[in-house]
Amino acid sequence: MHNIGSYDERAKNFSWDISEKELGYQPGDNINIGWYCTDRICDMGKAEKTALIWEGLGGKHKQYTYNDLRLLSNTIAGFLTSLGIVAEDRVCIFLDRIPELYIGFVGILKTGAIAQPLFSAFGEESLIVRLENAETKAIITQKKHLGKVRKIVDKLPYLKHIIVVDDPGKAPLQQLEIAFDMDNAERLEHYEVYPTKAESPSVLHYTSGTTGMPKGVKHVHYSLISQYLTAKWVLDLKENDIYWCTADPGWVTGTSYGIISPWALGVTQCVNDIGFSADAWYSFIEKHRISVWYSAPTAIRSLMKAGDEVIKKYDLSSLRHLASVGEPLNAEAVIWSDKVFGLKFHDSYWQTETGSIMISNYPGMPIKAGSMGKPFPGVVSAVVDPESYEEINDTGKIGLIAFRPGWPAMMRMYWNNEQVYKAKFNNGWYIPGDRAYIDPEGYFWFVGRDDDIINTGGHLVSPFEVESALLEHPAVAESAVVSKPDFVNMEVVKAFVCLKPGYEATPELNLEIMNFIRKKLSPLAMPQDIEYIPNLPKTRSGKIMRRMLKAQEWGEEIGDTSTLEDD
Ligand code: PRX
Repeated sequence: MHNIGSYDERAKNFSWDISEKELGYQPGDNINIGWYCTDRICDMGKAEKTALIWEGLGGKHKQYTYNDLRLLSNTIAGFLTSLGIVAEDRVCIFLDRIPELYIGFVGILKTGAIAQPLFSAFGEESLIVRLENAETKAIITQKKHLGKVRKIVDKLPYLKHIIVVDDPGKAPLQQLEIAFDMDNAERLEHYEVYPTKAESPSVLHYTSGTTGMPKGVKHVHYSLISQYLTAKWVLDLKENDIYWCTADPGWVTGTSYGIISPWALGVTQCVNDIGFSADAWYSFIEKHRISVWYSAPTAIRSLMKAGDEVIKKYDLSSLRHLASVGEPLNAEAVIWSDKVFGLKFHDSYWQTETGSIMISNYPGMPIKAGSMGKPFPGVVSAVVDPESYEEINDTGKIGLIAFRPGWPAMMRMYWNNEQVYKAKFNNGWYIPGDRAYIDPEGYFWFVGRDDDIINTGGHLVSPFEVESALLEHPAVAESAVVSKPDFVNMEVVKAFVCLKPGYEATPELNLEIMNFIRKKLSPLAMPQDIEYIPNLPKTRSGKIMRRMLKAQEWGEEIGDTSTLEDD
């Protein structure tokens, strides 16, 4: 029997009290995610249960029980407190997927500070804007990323500590740097977990906007109420599951469903830091007998591309439930997974801002391949008219996805940006910025984003950020950045560039510009294609018409060009 039982019954009689009761939480109580993920599970008699199985390159392997998690997160919390970190300070985690990332996240929350995870492939520019905006006080990193941090440290007046978890040893530590060796530190039996309340801030994730700099999405400890129950009902996590979430905790899936919910449910989870290859992934599943797998369409399409033969080399019979998030899951991918694993990927839709799964296919509910499924019980959602924000009642008619605010994991604010936060609401709805339609049976079908943001391999990239970075290259006079189709990543970044006089479009310049963006921003933001053009299409008021360039890339109708500059 699935945890959710019958979706229709749950949807009829839903209240978040279900989750509060299971977690033993009553309104007004203290609620600290760090405590829920560790001490509570130990108190429930699962101290010796495996919490984390970790694999790194070169056969590295580590394993931690819930008691280890409890003690090590205490140790990290104690260390941060000794440095002077207090409640609501922002502590950034800038680490590869190593155990210190996962356990450090929990340790930060125990102190009452706010965890700010950043993707470890970020370059200096991506890093600086996010650390500056959050006025981050401490950063936890590792030797290989220290160079990037050292380059920007002088520009960050709020930064007081750089904690290096794999002691640099040979290279002497510089100003603000301090070594911390989690596995060998003295384990702290008692740490007074900070008495956070429901509305105390917990996590700050940065997400890319269409215009302007990235926005810090502020979550609170009460988000646990949504994250716990959605993981239980959508991912169907149970006592004996071995769970693998393939997302990096630099992004919200990797924290909500890669740290918080599996541990709050007391489940054993596996993590690896070995990169992608079909063999490596299948062998990971076989070796650890993974039963529940939460992944992303890009990974699934990469596996499809690797072919069906490779699957036959592995025993994947442990798998029992598959789910996906982050970008459109095409019907072919669902049909393929059914054919090769005997299991369909269950699509789920949500955002950094929503903090937890909002629309999904549930175990036991018939899947319509290509549809995102139905709203989570208790979540009031609709498709609304883009002008009036009134609900569209005609099935099949495309509009904007809308959610009635009020679920526990909803963001509470964009950090220092109330104006942009407020603009996300209209007519009593929260508007995520995606277009969809609802079919006669209440299933949601994703159509596309309602803005220019590029979703490459499930990661959002702001064209504005890439254009701003391109402008810093000496050869670039102007640019327009759009998405272009790609089989595996669905979309990749394409830049149209106008060169300054005296520069010539050569293959060398191409590579140089690509590398420039990769280093400055990240490999995700790097244009896969650069086209040099003499002028960019603009409106009469001088705004670049990305829409036109994008339509050209996707082979779509260009539409109304009457506002174009006519030169
Ligand atoms: O456009 C939607 C797309 O990813 C956006 C959210 O990205 P982010 O905040 O980075 O969070 C990603 C993981 C929760 C959405 O606004 N998206 C997410 N899930 C789906 C999706 N697009 C289509 N189908 C999905 N299942």
